[in-house]
Amino acid sequence: MSASDAIENLAHDSRSFEPNPEFAKTAVATSELYDQASNDRMAFWKAQAEKLHWHKPFTEALDWTYAPFARWFADGKLNVAYNCLDRHVEAGIGSRVALYFEGEPGDEQVYTYSTLLAAVKKAANALTALGVRQGDRVAIYLPMIPEAVISMLAVARIGAIHSVIFGGFSADSIASRIQDAHAKLVITSDGGYRKGKASPLKPAVDEALRGNNCPTVEHVLVVERTGGDVDWSEGRDIWWKDAMHAAHEEHVAEAFDAENPLFILYTSGTTGKPKGILHTSGGYLTQATYTHRNVFDLKPETDIYWCTADIGWITGHSYVTYGPLANGATQVIYEGTPDSPHPGRWWEIIQKYGVTQLYTAPTAIRSFMKLGRAIPDAFDLRSLRLLGSVGESINPEAWMWYREVIGGNRCPIVDTWWQTETGAIMISPLPGVTHTKPGSAQVALPGINAQVVDDEGNPVGNDHGGYLTVAEPWPSMLRGIWGDDERYVDTYWSRFDGQYFAGDGAKRDEDGDIWLLGRVDDVMNVSGHRLSTTEIESALVSHHWVAEAAVVGAKDELTGQAVVAFVILRQDEIADAPNEADLAKVLRDHVAKQIGPIAKPRQILVVSELPKTRSGKIMRRLLRDVAEDRPIGDVTTLADSGVMGAIGNKIAGGATD
Ligand code: PRX
Repeated sequence: MSASDAIENLAHDSRSFEPNPEFAKTAVATSELYDQASNDRMAFWKAQAEKLHWHKPFTEALDWTYAPFARWFADGKLNVAYNCLDRHVEAGIGSRVALYFEGEPGDEQVYTYSTLLAAVKKAANALTALGVRQGDRVAIYLPMIPEAVISMLAVARIGAIHSVIFGGFSADSIASRIQDAHAKLVITSDGGYRKGKASPLKPAVDEALRGNNCPTVEHVLVVERTGGDVDWSEGRDIWWKDAMHAAHEEHVAEAFDAENPLFILYTSGTTGKPKGILHTSGGYLTQATYTHRNVFDLKPETDIYWCTADIGWITGHSYVTYGPLANGATQVIYEGTPDSPHPGRWWEIIQKYGVTQLYTAPTAIRSFMKLGRAIPDAFDLRSLRLLGSVGESINPEAWMWYREVIGGNRCPIVDTWWQTETGAIMISPLPGVTHTKPGSAQVALPGINAQVVDDEGNPVGNDHGGYLTVAEPWPSMLRGIWGDDERYVDTYWSRFDGQYFAGDGAKRDEDGDIWLLGRVDDVMNVSGHRLSTTEIESALVSHHWVAEAAVVGAKDELTGQAVVAFVILRQDEIADAPNEADLAKVLRDHVAKQIGPIAKPRQILVVSELPKTRSGKIMRRLLRDVAEDRPIGDVTTLADSGVMGAIGNKIAGGATD
């Protein structure tokens, strides 16, 4: 059974695991959170926010006057970086390790809260010296190295706005993100280590900035990581180490409004243009911190927490940088791939540092499952006490394997549902309280009002499916789409009156627990990463051979979904086109160049027509049937019902890449 088949059978899984007694003490406090939140939701969120340090205390929790534009704790002032660093040092825990960095080649760096603070202060001064001010945008394109976290915190410290761009994105994707945000500065590195070798990063930035492509960028700060050769643009490029060397050591954190923007993070939507999801300071930090503490049962004095996400994704923002550091946690960050230099690298890291909580994605778990349990069994994983999953539904088989093989049957699994837009975890079991069920994210966290609704927006009963919505605002909710208020309202708030629509289908089981059923829009989820069908279609038609393209997410055993593209070629342009297999390769590489290697279609099929309705809309549902090798569904609304026969014959002819 494939991963996605299992997802469809989810609600039939009747296994349930009792809370681990080790968590009993926490459980009492955690149960109280549900009571407090249901008695008075605003008082509950205020109490969570008060755990942060406010330079100026807030008086009101939520201002919803301009719904759906929320303001949380709006008359309060705080500094996000101060909350992540200074206050811990002032509280006397400066010598606690904040980051254990493990480079892929095996090099190590250790930052305590004191040394991390010192680095962030210097970086904040370096940014200021380069003219970065409150509200300016700074693009960050770095591997998973300490400077990634330092850069984010330094930007936050001076009230500027970061836009982290995942290192796997192409020059074109970097350019469009820089242009959309009008970034003033880019922070990158010569490269990073991946799959056993140095892989360059700066050339993509150079290409993105070539000519006058991104005129707002004044400087590029370059971290030296691999020592590889780099092209240098005099006057524009500055070595990070030189800027740090020249920077003052002292820096006093200024207080900013709770609604001061903290970051923009681009994510795929249903159109060709990625959306710049905007998050602000006080509410975001409140919920990132609260969820990190409670969902992972954090004991900052003794735990060694490890989230494997890259800072290029929201998980890296909320559960590597902001949540853990605001909680004074000790964490591991790892630069490389899970199988370098050997397939047991992750388990070796857990053994080496004595990791207590591991937070990762189902696609990683499935790839380890495939390699077999002998690999993790060779390492001592007894330090683990809790396991987390994020990014897509975890199929019950992978959940059970995670529990038994990695968690030794003793670690609770928290399957956490959330999104770039929600900023922090929204639905998850709580350790010690929830009877966990393999494959279900189960219950909304205290303070969150998640609903499964029908077409009219009315909550469905137990044992029914529908759309996942959030019926009341929450502190870490997105505040908008950068530069496009209308798109924000249309995308999230227009489908159901007064409710945030998440884009996911969901079901409530007989106990009322929530099971996520995947996206109901044109967004795909490949290895827990969001990709837009339209964005890949636009990339394909930007090639001169392609007249039309339709992309679907097809089930894939390892990656959850995989990209399958159907293309119609331009007869007048294909004189120079090679045979179909080579043509598919060229087009796949073209998509990688346009968006990034993660967006490469698994399969490209050349067809002569696409299934369309009479109004000209492509029926992706039918193409998905083809891509997943299923009988083709209802074709009665097609303008030309013969089209599917032609496509089906094509597949039977084996025209794959
Ligand atoms: O479809 C849901 C899926 O990932 C989407 C959000 O993607 P992104 O913004 O990239 O954030 C991923 C990391 C938070 C959601 O709309 N998703 C995320 N977590 C889960 C999930 N689907 C099922 N179960 C989850 N635990």
